[in-house]
Amino acid sequence: MQHLIDTNDLTDKQISQLLGDASAFKKQRPPQLLHDKLFITLFFEPSTRTRSSFEVAAKRLGAAVVHLDPSRSSTKKGESLEDTFANLCAMEPDGVIIRHKENTAPGILADMQMTPVINAGAGNYAHPTQALLDLFTIHEHFQGDIKGKTIAIVGDIANSRVASSGIRLFRRMGMHILLVAPEPFMPQESELPKYQHLEEVLDKADIIMSLRAQLERHTKPIFDDYAEYAKHYCITKERLGNRNTLILHPGPVMRNIDISDEMLEDPRCKVLTQVQNGVFMRMAVLKLLLLDS
Ligand code: CP
Repeated sequence: MQHLIDTNDLTDKQISQLLGDASAFKKQRPPQLLHDKLFITLFFEPSTRTRSSFEVAAKRLGAAVVHLDPSRSSTKKGESLEDTFANLCAMEPDGVIIRHKENTAPGILADMQMTPVINAGAGNYAHPTQALLDLFTIHEHFQGDIKGKTIAIVGDIANSRVASSGIRLFRRMGMHILLVAPEPFMPQESELPKYQHLEEVLDKADIIMSLRAQLERHTKPIFDDYAEYAKHYCITKERLGNRNTLILHPGPVMRNIDISDEMLEDPRCKVLTQVQNGVFMRMAVLKLLLLDS
């Protein structure tokens, strides 16, 4: 039984297969490879992209999907996460896709070895399918030539599971990573090169990944005025000039704080391509876990 809790769960060969399958699925819609499968999604935190992307991916492959809304489930009566999961597994799904505020929640459920568990975002540590779809988008943009490319990650890095998952995966793929953030958003323990000013990395970065402030993970307000933050960290056309930089953001984008309205319309900005690619990458992940492992 294979789970996807972190990208470290994947071998190099599996990552390469995922990139190949996602690309093939994008070129041609595959047959209903998972027509007899059923997934349950269990999202304890809000989601627009990830939950619907998993559902679309599963349905494109012919699988059925059942959503359990924890805000209307027996979690509200005090049922534990483990008991909720065990009861869902008694219905014999072929996998459970979970999002949770605790870093360890998907791993705890995977250790119960009842059904494949797929981490759809946990705490501030891991969001493996986001890292994989971002890698796919970068790989596609540079036609596979990604080793040695430099990505600048800008924003609330300390609280971002997208950043932590991405950093582990991009380093493994031989990319260089620069961190750009004000001091409260900078992960102090990281050994990666750190910058306080976006201007310092503009000529070094092939890719800029902008991240929103993870307000829901701040125990107290960090900045009173995000308009002031935006003056230093918002990706604007004026700032980027004519540099041929790939601009990414996992969403949701805080418009004119993370990326300007004008920049979001610019062809260098691939935010919606990331969302499109997310479906193909998640199709590849479901195939890998259910059929190829
Ligand atoms: N990128 C991402 O995880 O978006 P959602 O929170 O909308 O799923």
